[in-house]
Amino acid sequence: MMVDLFASRVETIRDGVVLLRAFADPRILLPLIDAIASVAPFRSMTVPGGKSMSVATTSCGERGWISDARGYRYESVDPLTQRPWPAMPVEFRTLAVGAASRAGFAGFDPDSCLINRYAPGARMGAHVDKDERDFDQPIVSVSLGLPARFKIADAVIPLSDGDVVVFGGPARTAKHGVSPVVAGPLPYRFNLTFRRAG
Ligand code: SIN
Ligand code: FE2
Repeated sequence: MMVDLFASRVETIRDGVVLLRAFADPRILLPLIDAIASVAPFRSMTVPGGKSMSVATTSCGERGWISDARGYRYESVDPLTQRPWPAMPVEFRTLAVGAASRAGFAGFDPDSCLINRYAPGARMGAHVDKDERDFDQPIVSVSLGLPARFKIADAVIPLSDGDVVVFGGPARTAKHGVSPVVAGPLPYRFNLTFRRAG
């Protein structure tokens, strides 16, 4: 009998929440993040209440997620540079589409990748991803660097470098967030969130 080792890495956490441990290769992704940030620098966005987010953020792809005093939305031009967001690297897209497919969401077609950088102490408050047009498409979330505790619905998932979470279907509008990142041997945690925004 053939044993499918690849399939054994697919873990269903809840209906619509799938964990793919060590699915992403940080050695490939981190230099690409650096290249994107050299064109569209990381910045701390302001939320409508006036506070700054603790994570630093940039984007690539046709659309980038932004927040300012007017609210949350997607824009095709980076407000910091007044230039289009850098293109989504093919390695990013292949990873996101492959992860979605492994998780049972064939045909994922992301047009946006939000890149969050967490220094120790940075966190992401509980929220729902609801600025996208099409909730039929899942969210693919890639963790790199320092570990984190990711909370989604009533589950807490400890995430390490290279782990990927896919949430869609019944979990597409599940509340999720990240506990404050703890200092460790690496400077940051990065998270890539792939979405179909437009
Ligand atoms: C997010 O929900 O935008 C980020 C999630 C994460 O950093 O794991
Ligand atoms: Fe989110």
